[in-house]
Amino acid sequence: MINMSDIMNKEMIEKLLYWYSLNKRDLPWRRTNNPYHIWVSEIMLQQTRVETVIPYFKRFINTLPDVEALANVDEDVLLKLWEGLGYYSRVRNMQKCAKELMEKYNGNFPKTYDELIKLPGVGFYTAGAIASIAFKENVPAIDGNALRILSRVNLDERDMSKDQVKKEYFEKLSKNLIHDSGDFNQSLMDLGSSICTFKDAKCSLCPIQKLCRAYQKNKVDKLPIKYRKQSRKIEEKTIIIYRYKDMVAILKRPDKGLLASLYEYPNVQKKLTEKQMIKYLEDKKISYLKLIQLEESKHLFSHIEWNMIGYEIYLNKKIKGYLWVSIQDLFMHYSIPTAFIKYTNHLKK
Ligand code: ADE
Repeated sequence: MINMSDIMNKEMIEKLLYWYSLNKRDLPWRRTNNPYHIWVSEIMLQQTRVETVIPYFKRFINTLPDVEALANVDEDVLLKLWEGLGYYSRVRNMQKCAKELMEKYNGNFPKTYDELIKLPGVGFYTAGAIASIAFKENVPAIDGNALRILSRVNLDERDMSKDQVKKEYFEKLSKNLIHDSGDFNQSLMDLGSSICTFKDAKCSLCPIQKLCRAYQKNKVDKLPIKYRKQSRKIEEKTIIIYRYKDMVAILKRPDKGLLASLYEYPNVQKKLTEKQMIKYLEDKKISYLKLIQLEESKHLFSHIEWNMIGYEIYLNKKIKGYLWVSIQDLFMHYSIPTAFIKYTNHLKK
């Protein structure tokens, strides 16, 4: 059992702050206290690596420099700015939040954790990050990195993804955090991504190695324990790239559910063999000049797996029911999810 009284005690906090003062990475969102910038970076950094986020962050802030610009931007432009980052509901919630900030707070952010957490799309991690980094409130920001470190220093073998466990750590840590909590929270982020990594942790470089109970018991690589997640539902798809002259057919996805409001290629909910594809076109009375089978591909969402095959069909006239766009416009203006990346890359050739 873990002894919750010594989780991340003051000695560890001071050691981490000192380590951070010497080792902190110079990142664009660390050169400011602007809560809008900090918020944008934190949402982007959920599920996406720092190196990938940097150019997205700079482009986003240049295009939409403040809450008002985000509240008013056209959804297609917004989704295009996010293209490739995935989890598009995050950016949709950001716009919802920006609208609420305009209505209730005159385009500013409220300054406390308790108010921040009430905003749409702002969970306990993001509220903690904004409150501590932008407004210097002494609250923790507990993300996956922090949970991994906490499970190791405390030799905590529980399921760290459980809300009850997170809540317990949040409360304990809140009591011990009395200064520089923004730096402390970011020290955990940096320690987690460079030293206390999921695999091959570099314990010899760790500033709290001696205090770490998993290290003492030689159990660092066993923690946190991975509890089995629900398995993904497998769906099969045939992706059809209809081409006519320099154009390609696309569709807008429904405004609810998976990849809502993004664009996609026409598709069938089954993996068709070449013969079946030919039959499908015959049944739909679609005459074509050439049919090319494309690569198979697979995309993993958190709860669904798509197994796909593609066909490129050259037509001698447009077929109805689709949006026909030039390849150049497709890349410039339409947000096609990463799930289709192999077929989109094929169009770049
Ligand atoms: N990961 C999440 N938030 C971060 C931040 N502010 N700096 C570096 N990595 C992060």
